[in-house]
Amino acid sequence: MSAVALDVHPLLSERWSTRAFDPDHVLEAETAGRLLEAARWSPSASNTQPWRFAVALRGTPEHDVLFGTLMGFNQAWAGNASALVLVAAERVTPEGKTLRWADLDAGQAVAHLTVQAAAEGLVVHTLGGIEVDAIRAAYEIPDGVEPLVVVAVGRQGDLETLDETVRARELTRARRPLSELLLPLRGASA
Ligand SMILES: Cc1cc2nc3c(=O)[nH]c(=O)nc-3n(C[C@H](O)[C@H](O)[C@H](O)COP(=O)(O)O)c2cc1C
Repeated sequence: MSAVALDVHPLLSERWSTRAFDPDHVLEAETAGRLLEAARWSPSASNTQPWRFAVALRGTPEHDVLFGTLMGFNQAWAGNASALVLVAAERVTPEGKTLRWADLDAGQAVAHLTVQAAAEGLVVHTLGGIEVDAIRAAYEIPDGVEPLVVVAVGRQGDLETLDETVRARELTRARRPLSELLLPLRGASA
């Protein structure tokens, strides 16, 4: 499936956020490590590396905990993913310095992980629908560190397992045209 207008790399154009994960796929610890390695080598402001992670492989007690912090509409499908990865950002250092670009940096780390996963034949779905208080209760998260998303990782499953509405959403990818995204200089449109 590809609905991307420009000729970008297939790792990007053929990616989508699936809800159909293969429940039989097992993510090897080594592969999970490589995904984090890809994230770890992302660029960050002044190389502050504000991303923080927790990995939970399906079938482990850690997975039960992290899965339990997903909002219900995400629990409906994310349980088949082979792993869930919590991504948090250090917005304020222990010394009290605000890292203005922490969320952006963590987002880049997720993008790196996503592309590395695609290169390994895996699929990723990022989830903002998480219960932050439950995550804080479950994990030792220092002050200044904000849980941002949980990333579901696995192998593409059978789309036929999804109910019709979800499947239809899955098969339609849309983006605003680039012309709507470009910022004009002040006065340029006068
Ligand atoms: C920060 C962020 C939060 C998201 N939260 C959710 C979520 O809670 N549940 C969900 O089903 N999808 C979530 N998504 C997936 C987006 O809905 C999806 O990326 C978007 O619709 C574009 O579709 P595509 O990734 O298939 O191209 C999230 C994506 C991002 C980047």
